[in-house]
Amino acid sequence: MTENPSIQGVYITTYGCQMNVNDSERMFSLLELSNYQEVQKPDDANLIIINSCSVREKPVHKVHSEVGRYRQLKKENPNLIIGVGGCVGQQEKKKLLSDVPLLDFVFGPDNIDTLPSLVSEVRAKQERVAKAKFDYQSPYQVETLVRNPGVSTFVNITKGCDNFCTFCIVPFTRGRERSRSMKDLIDDINKLVERGTKEVTLLGQNVNSYKSDCGANFAQLMKTVATDTDIQRVRFTTSHPKDFDQELCDVLQNHRSKLCDYIHLPVQSGSSSILDRMNRRYTREEYLEKVKMIKDTIPGVSLSTDIIVGFPGETDQDFADTLSIVQEVGYETIFAFKYSPRPYTKAAKFTDQVAEDVKSARLNQLFAEHRELGFELAKRYDGQVLDILVEGTDDKREGVAHGRSTQNKLVHFNGTADLIGKVVPVRINKVAPNSLKGELQH
Ligand code: SAH
Ligand code: SF4
Ligand code: F3S
Repeated sequence: MTENPSIQGVYITTYGCQMNVNDSERMFSLLELSNYQEVQKPDDANLIIINSCSVREKPVHKVHSEVGRYRQLKKENPNLIIGVGGCVGQQEKKKLLSDVPLLDFVFGPDNIDTLPSLVSEVRAKQERVAKAKFDYQSPYQVETLVRNPGVSTFVNITKGCDNFCTFCIVPFTRGRERSRSMKDLIDDINKLVERGTKEVTLLGQNVNSYKSDCGANFAQLMKTVATDTDIQRVRFTTSHPKDFDQELCDVLQNHRSKLCDYIHLPVQSGSSSILDRMNRRYTREEYLEKVKMIKDTIPGVSLSTDIIVGFPGETDQDFADTLSIVQEVGYETIFAFKYSPRPYTKAAKFTDQVAEDVKSARLNQLFAEHRELGFELAKRYDGQVLDILVEGTDDKREGVAHGRSTQNKLVHFNGTADLIGKVVPVRINKVAPNSLKGELQH
């Protein structure tokens, strides 16, 4: 429980992508300015927020069952109010209030900055409120709000998405694409550096369609962050293959010490006909050309991807094409999902949906094949000395620290808390499928 009785406890659960993680941190920061404090258990809270995601399977159902778990708390504590934010809030708007009677308020990702006043309004009027309007008018200006910027911080550079891949709900829940100005971003990153941040991850649904009001594109933004700030490392996610160009590759290569050797390049499928039906706007061959350009320009770069299996109409041959592209590209990491029909999307209306058991079997096969490939690829690090940005020490094992290489590999090694935030050389001496172990070099 919080010590000061006038301060109220807030508990937030977060689902979905890094943008939602960043949004929850923004909610905490804003609420702390208006007399709330984070608590670790829902039992200690007067305000509970579910920051939801609707990208896959049964999101409304998940909100229902989570709110249901708070039923008893609500009975015991008349001051407890419960809200749903994030993409389910945006998707369902006030319908969610009628579907989930225990809910007090609903808000969308564009309404986060009004959260403190929304909460006061709900309390004062004792009314249930839904606020899920996109802000189409004002320019996208948000300073990153984090309570304690750690070693690594997320920075939004764009919001929304205009790509309308036929499987994806994001354009409907996050609205049209907007970019922050480069000047604001540089100021923002400089302030984070002053507060101790060593690494930023630039976030957007499609970072490489970034366009500043001054005309700068994503490659020019990356270059400016590398040259005009003292940040030690820069990551970004997610880049769309159709917009990945030579200019960006050159910038990444020329500033390699700061801009990490890791690119997440979602392929979704290895079959050109499925890619066409997904409206991804590249073929298998074009994707492979982009990968060749990246590997030729940035030798040794590490690649990861997102894959959907069982998209409507996916045949055994289409799936075989996905398995083969995974081998051909040699992704160190994959994030793979069974296709799940989403409201508003075109693909949900396609009549040739794939049976659930076929999707599950394909997903299992993909993971099994990738497990071996990922392990083989990780072996290249054995014996290498990698620069590790130290993120923390292990709670359970004394004298063990962990951090990430520029290729985004998690490495455990002999180290102590004084190294947190520093970049140290570590020689890799054990390669496991999901993590590396090493020895600190002096
Ligand atoms: N903007 C990012 C993706 C954000 S959603 C991009 O374009 O790469 C993250 C991932 O979720 C997607 O890459 C996709 O693999 C997966 N995904 C999105 N919609 C899905 C759906 N309807 N079913 C299954 N997986 C989905
Ligand atoms: Fe969704 Fe496609 Fe936009 Fe990514 S690029 S958020 S997958 S519509
Ligand atoms: Fe989920 Fe919305 Fe992110 S649907 S993946 S929280 S953009």
